[in-house]
Amino acid sequence: MRCLGKLVAVVVLALAVLAGWWWSGSYDIGADAPHWKVTARLIGVLRERSIDTRLAGIKVPQLDDPTLVTEGAAHYSEMCTQCHLAPGMTDSETRAGLYPQPPKLTKFAPDPAEAFWIIKHGIKMSAMPAWGKTHDDQKIWAMVAYLQQQPKMSAERYHQLTAHAAEVEDGDHQDATPAMPDMPAPAASTH
Ligand code: HEC
Repeated sequence: MRCLGKLVAVVVLALAVLAGWWWSGSYDIGADAPHWKVTARLIGVLRERSIDTRLAGIKVPQLDDPTLVTEGAAHYSEMCTQCHLAPGMTDSETRAGLYPQPPKLTKFAPDPAEAFWIIKHGIKMSAMPAWGKTHDDQKIWAMVAYLQQQPKMSAERYHQLTAHAAEVEDGDHQDATPAMPDMPAPAASTH
């Protein structure tokens, strides 16, 4: 009994110390204050395990269809380059200050199923958004298809592919953009 009492006292004391540290504000939440190596490792393994266990049901479609790649390039150029760069870009002002730093997707082609899951759901406590909130699976697969080609793509080819990117993206935002007060709401909107 006495032993149990001591154990409880130690646990309560440890929790009180932890709560004190948590409340004290001594933890530096700044994006320019890197994690300890051990914290970064723990988060890295948590991220890997979490994603790996969620890939089972994902069926990768045919990704070498040029129409899909062109559509993916348009979405990518409108939403992703400030963080992940594009052919011909070496860095961006946004990317330099992010923590964790977004990988340069111009350097490697990510695993398709994993990329699909990450693009759709995002990654908590990082700057990676959940694009599934605004883009359906077909559009996400288009971006995955484009990402398979990007590392070997020249800047010229990228500019050709994305020449009409704004029109493709504008099509997506019809429902998400509120109508201007003096403009009639879009007739086709059912939301
Ligand atoms: C505001 C910055 C930001 C934007 C915009 C952004 N991402 Fe990310 N993305 C990140 C960060 C940060 C990570 C790394 C997260 C981590 O490792 O915890 C990431 C990770 C990824 C990965 C995983 C790469 C790997 O390690 O295999 C993919 C794929 C990806 N992003 C695709 C995209 C696509 C496609 C878009 C555009 C639709 C996009 N991202 C837009 C910040 C961003």
